[in-house]
Amino acid sequence: MMIKNILNLRYGIQEEYIVDNKLSEISNNKNIISLKDLKEKNIDDMIILLTSDMNNIYSEIRKQLMEVVDIEKIVDVFSYSVYFDKDMYYNVTDFKDDPRLMALESAAREIYYNHVDGAIAECGVYQGGFANYMSRFMPDRKLYLFDTFSGFDDRDITPQEQIDSGRFRREHMHDDTSVELTLSNIGYCTNAVVRKGYFPDTAIGLEEEKFAFVSLDTDLYKPILAGLEFFWPRLNPGGYIFVDDFRHPLLLGVRKAVIEFCKREGIGYMSLPDGTDATAVISKPL
Ligand SMILES: C[S@@+](CC[C@H](N)C(=O)[O-])C[C@H]1O[C@@H](n2cnc3c(N)ncnc32)[C@H](O)[C@@H]1O
Repeated sequence: MMIKNILNLRYGIQEEYIVDNKLSEISNNKNIISLKDLKEKNIDDMIILLTSDMNNIYSEIRKQLMEVVDIEKIVDVFSYSVYFDKDMYYNVTDFKDDPRLMALESAAREIYYNHVDGAIAECGVYQGGFANYMSRFMPDRKLYLFDTFSGFDDRDITPQEQIDSGRFRREHMHDDTSVELTLSNIGYCTNAVVRKGYFPDTAIGLEEEKFAFVSLDTDLYKPILAGLEFFWPRLNPGGYIFVDDFRHPLLLGVRKAVIEFCKREGIGYMSLPDGTDATAVISKPL
């Protein structure tokens, strides 16, 4: 009602329909229709404002809506709202406490200002903490989620990493997750495409895909390097790659992979001031 009043009273914009399944059953107002009725209407010249602020059913409404209309027609009024802060282990209700999340929001803004097309992806998703923010800040994008969903793979652990990352891996097994749990933590999970299994094997078939934003958060040298090698050539001009744990004291392979790749490809990076772990940000020239 708030959105309706602002449109009607302040801007003189009258809605064509109010779509509400329950209300349509009890109201005599012909403009209040159900989602089923919307299918029969000609809505070529219209946009749909999705104004529900109820986190628990938001994804479901959006999913149903997308069966009826194109995703471009949906405007997510609450996409920047606290309703999508899942309050997971970041333990913040406002992302402005976290430099990495603030940088993500800035990167998302630049992506939209510069009209950078493409999907978004995270490689190393765990329970979806960061991916939820990616989905929140770039709600219209296809979101690829790459993870074993059962923790690290022995094939990735080099003898040196065995020593360097041993304590980290003992403390963070990352096997207490599942696809279902992860999707339930992601605001716009209807856009998500899950690629479960060992990366880079799980990227097979996506060679033609283009990306606007990628988060690499797999902790180890091999999958980080493999991520840079797969995503960099497929990153659109103006796109970003964030590599988490760039300066993590126990995950020395992350920095090694980034430096090696940047030198080889002649590209620059910037490290974020987000604690001792630090995130490396790589961007593609416009
Ligand atoms: C630090 S966690 C990711 C944290 C996550 N980004 C978040 O926001 O909470 C690292 C994840 O990388 C995954 N991973 C590591 N190597 C992988 C590989 N080769 N293929 C797929 N997933 C991998 C692990 O299963 C683990 O869930």
